[in-house]
Formats: sequence, structure tokens, C-alpha cells
Amino acid sequence: VNATPHASRSSSVSSPPYQAVDYSQKIDVNPRKGTRDFPPEDMRLRNWLFQNFREVSQLFGFEEVDYPILESEALYIRKGGEEIRDQIYCFEDRGNRRVALRPELTPSLARLVMQKGQSLSYPIKWYAIGQCWRYENMTRGRRREHYQWNMDIIGVPDVTGEAELISSIVTFFKRIGITAKDVGIKISSRKVLQEVMSLYSVPETSFTKACIIIDKMGKITIEELKKELKSIELSNDAIENLLQVLSIKSFTELEEKLGGTGEAINELKQLFSLAEKFGYSEWIQFDASVVRGLAYYTGIVFEGFDREGKLRAVCGGGRYDRLFSTFGGDDLPACGFGFGDAVIIELLKERRLLPEVPLEIENIVCSLDPDLKGAAARVASVLRGKGRCVDLVLENKPLKWVFKRAARINARRLILVGSAEWEKGMVVVKILSSGEQYQVNVDELE
Ligand code: HAM
Repeated sequence: VNATPHASRSSSVSSPPYQAVDYSQKIDVNPRKGTRDFPPEDMRLRNWLFQNFREVSQLFGFEEVDYPILESEALYIRKGGEEIRDQIYCFEDRGNRRVALRPELTPSLARLVMQKGQSLSYPIKWYAIGQCWRYENMTRGRRREHYQWNMDIIGVPDVTGEAELISSIVTFFKRIGITAKDVGIKISSRKVLQEVMSLYSVPETSFTKACIIIDKMGKITIEELKKELKSIELSNDAIENLLQVLSIKSFTELEEKLGGTGEAINELKQLFSLAEKFGYSEWIQFDASVVRGLAYYTGIVFEGFDREGKLRAVCGGGRYDRLFSTFGGDDLPACGFGFGDAVIIELLKERRLLPEVPLEIENIVCSLDPDLKGAAARVASVLRGKGRCVDLVLENKPLKWVFKRAARINARRLILVGSAEWEKGMVVVKILSSGEQYQVNVDELE
């Protein structure tokens, strides 16, 4: 078959050249590299994970939102040389517009907040779970599509916002059996670097670029890092000092370096003191090397990490008080985080904490005679009407098959529709765990 779809499309829309496809060969049945199918057992696990994301967000009083997967490419074009820019799945649509599959959710959130404007009541507390696309080099837990759980607070300038967000991440970890021995959350503030750079009169425009370069620390050699920092016109002195500051892991050392009065130190101290009140101090640690790789962060930044050091960041986020003005809107104080579905599953596997999420259909209904299929359908409808889940055996199957199926779906009850009972409006109910069996009138089935 030579697949040339849309051959008769309106001539105002130009058709891209289609590749000829040879369906005389079996199609490649694998999903595209870096993408996943979710067969039922994987879907159950995904639903379990998302259910926990949802329940935690709701515990914190957040409302759920979503945005289109397809957005304008312009939404993701930011200054600063971010890695994410080179990973975007982007193309021209049939109307010659540049579009992109969203690599993250934050720009969509900003777009929607700007669109709604004053009709929103602040602060906004929104959460979303959505699929994101990035053409990444694949490593363990890093894929070309992933689902991201986001929680964002818009309208709160204070670090209570960040403290609340980190509390929700910790609540989530605890809920799924992860402890402070398994993961930690590294925290810093971009204002630390800003203060160092201002000592060397580094212009504001180089600041974001420097953050994005510094985020590569550990992924490239120190020599390469210095070279990149030099390319944005940082002096040798500034670079040496920056690298020294980035290695700081304690407040006392940071205070010695920056003096104890700056905004960076004050905010960090406030955050750590709030963490004590929330009760999650053991989960967090200060680490000046954390900057995160996205251009828009302006203050506190944080990332969840696996203490064994085997996996990439479990989650990441921070404050982004100036994103709105980069879109031509009025700035709003904002902070949030993204938490992927892939690394956490790897971590749960590592720690043998992956839950069994079995298929469970409470009832299986089967007719014992082909003429009673309608009666079995009625029984199923009565139960479903009362909110009970039913797997109705649709074909004529021997009882042996029905029992096997009941075991596979973990049914609790087998309901048999046989002619002798049905004549009296009754069915046989068998409790599968005990083998106990009794007759019930169909309308009294619960
Ligand atoms: P991000 O640090 O790029 O931040 O991603 C957040 C999280 O998404 C990562 O820590 C990881 O769990 C997951 N993730 C990212 N890329 C991949 C991938 N290729 N495969 C699997 N998982 C991945 C953001 O996206 C920000 N928009 C988060 C945010 C929300 N900041 C403020 N609000």
C-alpha cells in the first residue's frame, strides 16, 4: 500500500511529502524509541502512582488543571541556551504554524494564568499531571516522553510557598514508603550565585546563562565548565570564586563567604526554620551546587535525589518570579515543582517497594445455558446498577474456564445463572474464597 493520505485535501494547505509505507511487511510493533505503551498491568501501576499524586495535591488544597499537549513553539524559546530547547519535538502544522509537543507544563500554566488574568483569585494553587516530550539521550529513568506531576503556587512572594511545596513532596514520598534514608532534597538559591556574581560586576544577562552552564556540573569536566563560563565573559577570578561557592554545603561556610545579611541567606534560613516546623528537616540539606537547568528560576531551587546516587533527579523545582514578564505580562511571584513518573518507579524497584496492583473485578456472572445469556445480562445490569463491578462471560464457556478466569481477575463472587433457579427468579452465588454457596433472588443481589 502506498500510503498517501489526504490526497484530496484542500489545495490551500500544502501537504508534506509522505513516505511510502510497505504494509506487505509486518509493521514494527514496538513503540517509538523512548516512548511507552501501557498494557493493563503497567496502567494499573501508573494509576496507583497518579492517584497518590492526586491525593497528596488535594491534601494540600490544590486544584487540578491541564493544558493541551500541543502548544506554540514560541512558548519554549527562552534566552540562555537551555538544554530543553534542543530537545523539543517541534514542527510546522498544516496551517504553517510552528508548534511543539510540550516538554514541560510551566509555560502552559503561565499562559493560562495570563489568559485568565484578574478573574483568578490569588494565591493560585494548581496541580497537573501531564505527558511531556523531550528528545533526550536516554538513560535510566530518562525517556523521550514522561508524565510529570506539577504543583505550583502563584501569588505568594514568601518562602512559605517553597516550604509548602517541599512538604507536599515529602508527604508523597512517605505515602509510598520512601524514607529520608532513601531520598533527600537538596536546596539552594540562585540568589547565592547572583550575590557572588554581583561582586564581579557580571551583567544580569550573563547570569541566567551562567546558571544553565553550572547546571551541567558533574555532567561535563571542570575544564569544559570553566571554558563555557569564560565564553560568557566571566573573569578567571569570578569563575574560581563561583566554583568555590558552589562546593559549599553548610550555612556557616556560606555566611562566611557572603556575609550574614544578604537576601539569599535570609530566605534559606527561613526555609530551613519552616522545615523544622513542618517536621521534614531530616529530608533536606543545603547544597550550593544546585541551580536547576531551566532559565526562569530566580530564587530558591531544589531537587529530590536518590541517596545511593544511582539515579538522576527524582523531582525539581523552584521560584520563578519573572517568567510572566518574559511572556509580555505583569510579573507574579510564583514557585512550583515537576516530579516525573519514571525515576520514582526505578527507585521503588531498587528499594523493592513497587506495589502489587492486581486486577480486581468483584463479580463474575455466567449463564449455564446458552438460552440464559439474556438472563445473565440482566443479573449483570442489576449489580452494575448498584455500583458493583461485573465481568460478564459473553461466550458459552465451560465452568472450568470460568473458574480460571475468576482466579485471574481476582473475583470475590461467582454468580451462576442456571435454568432451575432462574425459573424462580433466583441465581446461585458462590463466594470464591470459602466455597460457600447460596441462592438469592436477582433483585436482592447486592
Ligand atoms: P525539570 O527539572 O526539567 O523541571 O523536570 C522536572 C522533573 O521531571 C525531573 O526532576 C524528572 O523527574 C522529570 N523529567 C524531566 N525530564 C524527564 C525525562 N526526559 N524523562 C523522565 N523524567 C523526566 C521542569 O520541567 C519544571 N517545569 C518544573 C517546575 C514546575 N518548576 C516550576 N514549576
